[in-house]
Amino acid sequence: MRVIVEQNKEGVSRRAAQFVAELVRRRPRCVLGLATGSTPLGMYAELIQMHREEGLDFSRVVTFNLDEYVGLSGSDPHSYRYFMQHNLFDHINIDPRDTHIPDGRALDFEAYCEQYERMIADEGGIDLQVLGIGGDGHIAFNEPGSSLGSRTRLKSLTTETVRDNARFFGSEKDVPRLAITVGVGTILESRQCLLLACGDSKAKAIRDTIEGPITAQVTASALQLHRDVIAILDEEAARLLERRDYYCEVERLQAALQAGQLGKVGEQ
Ligand code: PGA
Repeated sequence: MRVIVEQNKEGVSRRAAQFVAELVRRRPRCVLGLATGSTPLGMYAELIQMHREEGLDFSRVVTFNLDEYVGLSGSDPHSYRYFMQHNLFDHINIDPRDTHIPDGRALDFEAYCEQYERMIADEGGIDLQVLGIGGDGHIAFNEPGSSLGSRTRLKSLTTETVRDNARFFGSEKDVPRLAITVGVGTILESRQCLLLACGDSKAKAIRDTIEGPITAQVTASALQLHRDVIAILDEEAARLLERRDYYCEVERLQAALQAGQLGKVGEQ
């Protein structure tokens, strides 16, 4: 796993947006896997700015979101559809028909989840999957104990997640207890993953994910099995990493190699 440590949240957002923008420029019909929550908000703001100021073109981009609360319609301000419209889609030139978010009001969930997987496959799979991480190490709504081979399905939220997400709803009792989420197995099939984490509340989950054993109790740890994951962290989220200095050294050497400054590689 490649680990990039930025000074603060702004740095994480900027760096993550650069990876997304680079892909969109290189492959205009790319398939992005997108996430909700507070972590990717800054990245979305950067992408909107790149669209406005540099003409970053989303007209052919296809997106699939990770999850949605069961029972909420897309016009509900707490739904992830609403979140995505508000924080990204309404401000860029993406074709609304190419934006996919699980339907929290599907009638036959089993059939719908299978269909969601098929839609991803029909677009050729996810090129770049953006991920946040829960305090308990979950990715998407794959709560501790989720199968590491899981596919899109219904999942019950843990009390910890309900508590964490109450900040978006006003109170815990209003947070839906069920969500549709892509599985860990679905995420592992993406060609590349960008794992974003900011703040002290993520430090333990990040340590467990990057340096701990692979375990269904920390579903993000399954990313160790993926061959192209880039974790972009702020200083606080990286605080408990034992090999942090090594990760920074790898980045320094990579940058020198890319800049063709082979002589600098041996320097301290
Ligand atoms: P957050 O949520 O970005 O709001 O911290 C992340 C998650 O729970 O996956």
